[in-house]
Amino acid sequence: MHYFTYKGNELYAEDVPLEALAREYGTPLYVYSKNTVLRHIKAYKKAFCDPGGILCFALKANSNGAILKLLAEEGAGADIVSGGELFRALRAGISPARIVYAGVGKTAEEIAYALKKKILMFNVESGEELEMINRVAGGLGMKAPVALRVNPDVDPRTHPYISTGMKKYKFGVPVEDALEFYRRAAGMEHILVRGIHQHIGSQLTEVAPFRDSLEKVLNLIGQLRAAGIDLTHLDLGGGLGIRYSKEETPPVPGELASGLLPLLKKVSGLTVIVEPGRSIIGNAGVLLTKCLYRKKTGEKNFVIVDAGMNDLLRPSLYGAFHEILPARKERRGSQVADVVGPICESGDFLARDRRLPIVKEGEILCVMGAGAYGYSMSSNYNSRPRAAEVMVDGDSHHPVRKRETYKDLIKGEL
Ligand code: LLP
Repeated sequence: MHYFTYKGNELYAEDVPLEALAREYGTPLYVYSKNTVLRHIKAYKKAFCDPGGILCFALKANSNGAILKLLAEEGAGADIVSGGELFRALRAGISPARIVYAGVGKTAEEIAYALKKKILMFNVESGEELEMINRVAGGLGMKAPVALRVNPDVDPRTHPYISTGMKKYKFGVPVEDALEFYRRAAGMEHILVRGIHQHIGSQLTEVAPFRDSLEKVLNLIGQLRAAGIDLTHLDLGGGLGIRYSKEETPPVPGELASGLLPLLKKVSGLTVIVEPGRSIIGNAGVLLTKCLYRKKTGEKNFVIVDAGMNDLLRPSLYGAFHEILPARKERRGSQVADVVGPICESGDFLARDRRLPIVKEGEILCVMGAGAYGYSMSSNYNSRPRAAEVMVDGDSHHPVRKRETYKDLIKGEL
């Protein structure tokens, strides 16, 4: 559910017409709906936090300070994968006691930074990383709280680039090696074994893979208990999908919780952590872009817009579908077209062979579901300044990031 809807012929973000925002701030422009974000946070809190769990927002989905501040005010924690994300989370006021740190390539400097800031736990992805954490913690005279990221070898039935919990991918430690890993960890002087972590993929549209994975993890917890290793935290990861197209019907957080929490009755005394990114911010953001030109070749119709793969990479990288709506509805015919950006690559498109209302030059189009992995994956490719971002709250709006300038492009160059 989100608050981007047509009122009459005009598409609104909450109570603000998107065309007016495009006029005021220019395009390409990311627009977020504060009340959509709050609604999603509330749904997660009800489903997982009320029964005692912790919500850790996955910063990689969107790390704009205004969004993080909103999450911090709502008491959310953070799932981070770099020192930079730790910096952003702390700066936004997120409590380090609710920060979990995953990723296969944490550096010694990043580990030391997180230790000094006293995060909740490192989600460790390999034996060598565990040794490094032990060494760095030893150097600081500290004990590092860790969880093992288990690779349960479950197919999440999503795009291969965003699948993680199968053996062929680089993430986590195979479930059959986990007991041995925990034994080693428990014997290390500067390691405090705290939890267990799974994250099997992103944009999952069914509960079943989450359940299959959790069953394997719960089995392992039983074996660990029998071996005298007691955990306090169970991190279920993120990955709940959103509705990009009408064919997708992902469960809502409450349905995910109803599917998983009964399984947890088998084990007591574990604090559950969830790490959603997309399902908090994905549908809470759109990308506004202006049609620059139209072009017809013998083969195709092209709608050339001012947002490219540097602004929203998902269609190019994953072949991802994002609905595209006109900011102003009008009576007109339709045509099948490719919506493409200005980048010098044939892979630069926002939509391919899409049936759309016939677009006019100068018209504002709205790319839906762009709040997650939109701005956060954007770049300066083709020396394009990155877009501006705006937050809408009811009938008010305020900029949360300035559009970059040409000068920003060369900042730091020597
Ligand atoms: N936890 C961990 C350890 C993760 O690796 C991720 C995402 C999440 C949580 C959050 O997953 P979410 O709830 O957002 O699905 N760029 C891709 C998505 C990559 C996801 C990477 N990991 C995309 O645009 O679809």
